[in-house]
Amino acid sequence: MASDRFLRCFSLLILLSGPALVTASSSIGINYGQIANNLPSPDDVVPLVKSVGATRLKLYDADPRVLKAFAGTGIEFTVGLGNEYLARMRDPAQALAWLKSNIQPYLPSTKITCITVGNEVLTLNDTSLTADVLPAMQGLQGALAKLGLDDQVTVTTPHSLAVLETSYPPSAGAFRRDLAAPLTEILKFQAKAGSPFLINAYPFFAYKGNPRQVPLDFVLFESNPGEVDPSTGLHYDNMLFAQIDAVHSALASLGFRNLTLHISETGWPSRGDADEVGATPENARKYNGNLMKIMAQKKGTPMRPNGDLNVYVFALFNENMKTGPTSERNYGLFKPDGTPVYALALNGSSDAGGNGTIPTKSGSPPLAAETPASTSTGSSTGYLAISSGVERCRSAQTLFVLCLATIKLLF
Ligand SMILES: *[C@@H]1O[C@H](CO)[C@@H](O)[C@H](O)[C@H]1NC(C)=O
Ligand SMILES: *[C@@H]1O[C@H](CO)[C@@H](O)[C@H](O)[C@H]1NC(C)=O
Ligand SMILES: *[C@@H]1O[C@H](CO)[C@@H](O)[C@H](O)[C@H]1NC(C)=O
Ligand SMILES: *[C@@H]1O[C@H](CO)[C@@H](O)[C@H](O)[C@H]1NC(C)=O
Repeated sequence: MASDRFLRCFSLLILLSGPALVTASSSIGINYGQIANNLPSPDDVVPLVKSVGATRLKLYDADPRVLKAFAGTGIEFTVGLGNEYLARMRDPAQALAWLKSNIQPYLPSTKITCITVGNEVLTLNDTSLTADVLPAMQGLQGALAKLGLDDQVTVTTPHSLAVLETSYPPSAGAFRRDLAAPLTEILKFQAKAGSPFLINAYPFFAYKGNPRQVPLDFVLFESNPGEVDPSTGLHYDNMLFAQIDAVHSALASLGFRNLTLHISETGWPSRGDADEVGATPENARKYNGNLMKIMAQKKGTPMRPNGDLNVYVFALFNENMKTGPTSERNYGLFKPDGTPVYALALNGSSDAGGNGTIPTKSGSPPLAAETPASTSTGSSTGYLAISSGVERCRSAQTLFVLCLATIKLLF
């Protein structure tokens, strides 16, 4: 009972003091995938999201429980429409009906700003599905306009980096020739609608495919000599930025230099099969921790130094029901019980984080992590792990004192 109150109080305080906790961290987006049968309830996920300083979430559906739980949090949402819905969205009546039941009821208290139409459709090589993408986007755009929501909600579709035929050097980036025609039509629509072009990019795949040639430090944003693009002279010190600029080049070559580009997924698995080289907690911690640090510095890519980088980490949780290699089930920042898979350290200092737990009501984390003893002995808790050390301690102490005071009031 007391511990339950403590827990609730703690969650509440984390919620209330979110901005204070994350001053040293970045504004980052996270993909909230739910292909699992053991995830905490969305209400318990709210403090987790705040704890890592995320300000945006991306869903693969329009889960009403999630959209309700995050009402009033200010977290910005991208919601998804699965590939199986595309064909029917070209029908204006069905598009309108979908918006009326899945989006409109949650606005404006839940800040939904974007709808993704399908996921990585063009690289499935299914010509009929590819042909459905643009009409579905148009159907939804028309329906949004009818509801007067087209100013606040945009329509886009995320692509795999495999839409590129050439990705290196970045200045030579080009789309697959067979996709140029359908992409051009989609891009025309997006340029007019003002929606961002979305790419899912995983330097992990490049490393896994060629670990002897690809320098690990280059893909993990660690210190390394980097590479120079021979035709622009631009220096790249990490692979993700090279991939992003390759997409910029590809867009420019189709005549869409000005389109905003967002990275709708990137991440690194903490576990993999024997042949998945590099899938370790240490590498995942470096990749995601360094990425968040770079995001906090508001650094653009060499081609777009002042561009607004908008990146969504994949993913919030390990998802136990995903098929495929072991890595697929191990991209999460958090385990289903709300404990961090590894300590994300914002300045890359490996001991800055702890391996404590995040309180969730349903997740039954080890109680020790929320007890005064563990806080006062300096064992840091995961939700503070990406703040700087000093700030982390101060925040933890303040939180604890506030929490005690609140508990006294409650009893
Ligand atoms: C799709 O087609 C491209 C180009 O022909 C090919 O490289 C790729 O492997 C194909 N992808 C799938 C999933 O079949
Ligand atoms: C691209 O953006 C720049 C700066 O915002 C603007 O001046 C220019 O007109 C745009 N070009 C096109 C083709 O839209
Ligand atoms: C952490 O990162 C910030 C911003 O990049 C930097 O100013 C600071 O010196 C770093 N701290 C440590 C301990 O590396
Ligand atoms: C968690 O902390 C304990 C004690 O400091 C340490 O022995 C253990 O290896 C850590 N586990 C992880 C996953 O970091």
